[in-house]
Amino acid sequence: MSNLLHVCIYNAEPESSKTLQAQIGSLNFVRLVGEVGSPDELANLLHRATVNLVFFHLDPDPEPIVEVIDGVSTKYPELALVAISHKSGPDAILAPMRAGCDQFVCEPIDHNDLANAVARVASRRLLSNTKSRCICVVGASGGAGATSIACNLALEIGNIVDRDCALVDLDLQFGDVALNFDCEPRYTMYDLAESGSELDRSILSTTVTTLPCKVALLARPETIEQADNITPEIIHRVLELLTGVYENVVIDVPGHFDVRTIAAMGQADLILVVCQLQVPSLRNAKRFMDTLKHMGVPEERIEVVINRSDGRSGRLTEQHVEETMKKAVFASVPNDYQFVARSIDFGRPIAALDRNSPVRAAIRKMARKIVSGPTVAPPEKEQRKGLFSRLLAK
Ligand SMILES: Nc1ncnc2c1ncn2[C@@H]1O[C@H](COP(=O)(O)OP(=O)(O)OP(=O)(O)O)[C@@H](O)[C@H]1O
Ligand SMILES: [Mg+2]
Repeated sequence: MSNLLHVCIYNAEPESSKTLQAQIGSLNFVRLVGEVGSPDELANLLHRATVNLVFFHLDPDPEPIVEVIDGVSTKYPELALVAISHKSGPDAILAPMRAGCDQFVCEPIDHNDLANAVARVASRRLLSNTKSRCICVVGASGGAGATSIACNLALEIGNIVDRDCALVDLDLQFGDVALNFDCEPRYTMYDLAESGSELDRSILSTTVTTLPCKVALLARPETIEQADNITPEIIHRVLELLTGVYENVVIDVPGHFDVRTIAAMGQADLILVVCQLQVPSLRNAKRFMDTLKHMGVPEERIEVVINRSDGRSGRLTEQHVEETMKKAVFASVPNDYQFVARSIDFGRPIAALDRNSPVRAAIRKMARKIVSGPTVAPPEKEQRKGLFSRLLAK
């Protein structure tokens, strides 16, 4: 199965069509293949297109539609079925569920409810082989610009693929990812840790804060003490869940090796090591890369990003970086301190301040390069597990 859910809408109420299409079309991993309004049209669509899930809009008259659900669930048992209706009394919910629906979503539709319903169906019946991209952004030295790049990269990726990109703040004590978006998340990674063995996709999707700029943020714990509760096992599980729901997951990783950062980097498809054109930064970038390689991370999964690549009177050039790291620089982000500092202070992403900023253009170019490949072959699940335990065992 591909990494997209192919869905169609069964809707006999034309006035609802636009809203339903917009809500369903905005879900991650979902491709809307069509809308139909009668059993014949549905049969036709199922015959000519691949469909994994059908949304049945029950309004205004549920009865005949429940009959259609009954027929469809018998004839196409492999199809996932989700009912949507304004009526949410016990009978209104029971009838479509008895007829074979997997989930019921009330109108007006809450995006998280809908995402939860789809995630539940998907995890039970459909997306067993979801592939996604997990990108760790890590600074080779303090203040290298990892957080600024991670935040703006997630936003650009989300906008390029037109799907929310997950963004995780793994700087558990002092992370400022949420501040970069001027947002105060209701829930944080601490809530996930608290949910213990209950932790599943639906808990995850209520914990994530979905921002209008196509970023789905998983914030660091509120207090410094709470950070202690985030174990490497939780990070591992959270990333496993996130990559099952989001096509792209960007993680802001603090620049040091410990069991938690290793847990994240062990699961990454791509690790972007951010350095500046200064000797200590470059030296640490090299040490960082060597350590990752030594731990078994394949070299092609590690890339170097130069931040503040101009405007410094330093002697180092991009060529020095390539010679030292023995690989081509993946991306270079120019220097613009006033502008980037303003973006952070106002909590407004770079693209929102100035779409034409050279810093933004460089990060967008990097985002394009990441989403359009050359893609890194995702490690097999078993391989990832092995790498993870190996890294943690060190
Ligand atoms: N391209 C850039 N041009 C100019 N200044 C930049 C650029 N990128 C980041 N900065 C500035 O560098 C500082 C550190 O940025 P940021 O917080 O993103 O780095 P970091 O690597 O996450 O730091 P930390 O090690 O504290 O986590 C900020 O003041 C930011 O304004
Ligand atoms: Mg940071």
